[in-house]
Amino acid sequence: MESLRGQVCVVLGAGGGIGSAVVRRFVADGATVVAVDVDAARLDALAGPARTLVADPGVWADASRVVDETVAAYGGIDVVVSCAGLFDQAVPLVDVPGEAIEQALTECLRANVTSALLTVRAALPTLAARRGRVVLTSSYAANLPSGGGVFYTAAKHALAGVVKQLAYELAPHVRVNAVAPGVAQTVMTGLSILDQGKKDAVLDGTEKALPLGVMPATDDYASVYALLASPTESAAMTGSTVVVDSGLAIRGLAAPSGGTLRELA
Ligand SMILES: NC(=O)c1ccc[n+]([C@@H]2O[C@H](COP(=O)([O-])OP(=O)(O)OC[C@H]3O[C@@H](n4cnc5c(N)ncnc54)[C@H](O)[C@@H]3O)[C@@H](O)[C@H]2O)c1
Repeated sequence: MESLRGQVCVVLGAGGGIGSAVVRRFVADGATVVAVDVDAARLDALAGPARTLVADPGVWADASRVVDETVAAYGGIDVVVSCAGLFDQAVPLVDVPGEAIEQALTECLRANVTSALLTVRAALPTLAARRGRVVLTSSYAANLPSGGGVFYTAAKHALAGVVKQLAYELAPHVRVNAVAPGVAQTVMTGLSILDQGKKDAVLDGTEKALPLGVMPATDDYASVYALLASPTESAAMTGSTVVVDSGLAIRGLAAPSGGTLRELA
């Protein structure tokens, strides 16, 4: 596939489970990828990007450095993708000390929302000049409870607003969409203010709760990012969040799926 041939793509959270799948896919599709992450070790493990940058784009100086270095090296930016995120490990509010709440919310927002917002702001001139695309990462938690705790759920709800508002403000020059994964077997970093460390993003046996019955591969998400990043394949899409949730949104009460075709399969 060559649908991203010649496109310069900045990927935030590129060292992560979903981010690294996006990098692989974009490189295979012909893109020049600049892979950005706060975690240097995760970037070292990546194969294929044109350049890796250790940076925290949740801070303006880093976000503008990422954009400046990319424009200096490759002449512009066509696509900004954010797969950056921290997870609050679904901590119940009752278990959070009151004095940590404000910082926990800020930390969660910085990784999931602010880093994308700052990078897009820094890249606006080049994105506008090249009719660029922005692809953000939403979640099941952008619409419903129980996909995280209150910090993660609030951050992903905020991101839903960012997608719609930026799509409105930046049309017709830049398209802004998001992918909303259901579950992915990755190891997500928790909130440092709560001493959470790293933890599996999904519990064992989660696939039994999915109507499609199998844990999706991260590559199953990467293909949707490629669609939304393409200059041609999603040309009529902006302000959309593509739900890629293995059917969670149509899960039944009696059983995850109706399963009515079992005898025919
Ligand atoms: N894993 C799931 O089940 C799941 C479900 C729905 C949505 N998501 C979302 O998908 C995205 C990717 O998650 P993942 O499962 O691949 O987790 P992951 O932890 O493997 O990847 C996230 C990456 O973001 C990086 N990061 C954190 N803060 C950053 C910052 N400020 N700037 C740049 N990079 C930063 C981390 O170092 C990590 O490499 C996240 O936004 C997450 O919320 C994941």
